[in-house]
Parts: sequence; C-alpha cells; structure tokens
Amino acid sequence: MKYIVEHMEEGFSEWVILEYSQIIRDVGKENLILTSLPSTTTEKDIPKRLLDMGLQWTTKECIDLEFDGKIINRDEIALLDPAATTDLIPEDKSKIEYFLLAGVLGEHPRKDRTGILREKYKFLGRRLGNLQMTTDSAVRTAQRIIDGTKFEDIKFLDYPEIKYNKYESTEMPFRYIVDDNNEPILPEGMLELIRKDADQSIDDLLIDE
Ligand SMILES: C[S@@+](CC[C@H](N)C(=O)[O-])C[C@H]1O[C@@H](n2cnc3c(N)ncnc32)[C@H](O)[C@@H]1O
Repeated sequence: MKYIVEHMEEGFSEWVILEYSQIIRDVGKENLILTSLPSTTTEKDIPKRLLDMGLQWTTKECIDLEFDGKIINRDEIALLDPAATTDLIPEDKSKIEYFLLAGVLGEHPRKDRTGILREKYKFLGRRLGNLQMTTDSAVRTAQRIIDGTKFEDIKFLDYPEIKYNKYESTEMPFRYIVDDNNEPILPEGMLELIRKDADQSIDDLLIDE
C-alpha cells in the first residue's frame, strides 16, 4: 500500500518532522510521498533529517502524479477521512492502491481540514472510526486493516494522559494504537518533544509573570 500525504501546513514543524519520519520507518520510504508542496520549494526547504531518510516529495498534486514509476489512477485512491460515511475494512484492499491523507496537525475540537481534499478531489472516502488520530497513527491503523485486522480488533487508547514530569501530565486529544505494554504508540522523539514543549510553556508563564 502506498501513502500520499498532501502537506498542508506551512513549513515543517518538529512535530510534523517526527510524524513523517515515523511513517517512513513504518511503511518504508518507497511507500510515502509528500505532495502539493509550494511551487517554489527546493530541496533546501525540506528538513535534512527527512531527506536523509529518503523522503519523496513533489510540488505536484496527488493526481497526474508518477509515483514509483506508475501514473496514479484516481480510481485507486481513497481519502482517509474522519468524516467519511464508510469505515475502512480489510476487503477494501482489492480496490485501493493509494491512501491520501491531509498533512495537517490535529486541532481539538476537530476542524474539518480533510474536507478541503474531499471537496477538491471527490475520491472514495474511508473512515478509521469516529475519533481523530494523528497522521502517523492513521497510517498505522490503515496499514493494519489492509493487512487483514478488523478495526474492532485493534487495541486503541483514546485521549491518553502523557506524564511529562513527576507531577504534571497533558492529555493528547487523539486516539492511538497501543503497544504490547498498553502504551500509546507515538513517533520516536515525540515524548521528549512534548516534555520540552511543556517545560517551555511553564518557562513562558514564569517569564510573563
Ligand atoms: C491529524 S488528522 C487531521 C484531521 C483534521 N483536524 C480534520 O479534521 O480534518 C490528519 C489526517 O489523518 C487522517 N485521519 C485521522 N483520523 C482519522 C479517522 N478517524 N478516520 C480517517 N482518517 C483519519 C486523515 O487523513 C487526516 O486528514
């Protein structure tokens, strides 16, 4: 299965770099492409860490795109869409070659930014349950379903509390797949980033006072 992420954020935040890096580790660099980067984008605008991992990217849109030596056929693309009316099932494997995702950070409450792609392309839409996931979790979930596991047999944790020091924690407003220790699967480095961000906001508060 191949994954197309239409990059809709401005630039690349650390959060986005960690998510895209994890998707590359999970599905392989040959199975991910970032599309719709601004037309002026050159290699120096792409974070070196992603280039070093072999990230494929283009300023083209996801249609009329050559990916892995093949022109993408729009009938083989499904938009992973939290607002779709049909849930993804293992049997969909026979009709889907490419999943399209919006490369956006989740907001809480959810804003329908995937709707921009839904309206623009009118591809087949598939939902992964009724709660918002991060982009890398959505890829992980779709891959498990396409590999034959039903959505209801995947173990998730909703809105986990992430402890960032002995006394404080923050609630992540997303649904995550859990690992064998029942811990939410986050991209490598994300826990440290959350801790750093939390420390920084505490510092900001102290400075403002
Ligand atoms: C962090 S989510 C952003 C969702 C955005 N806030 C919105 O409401 O459209 C990034 C992408 O992951 C995929 N995704 C996340 N949760 C999903 C779900 N429950 N079902 C299908 N796709 C999902 C979608 O492709 C979505 O565009």
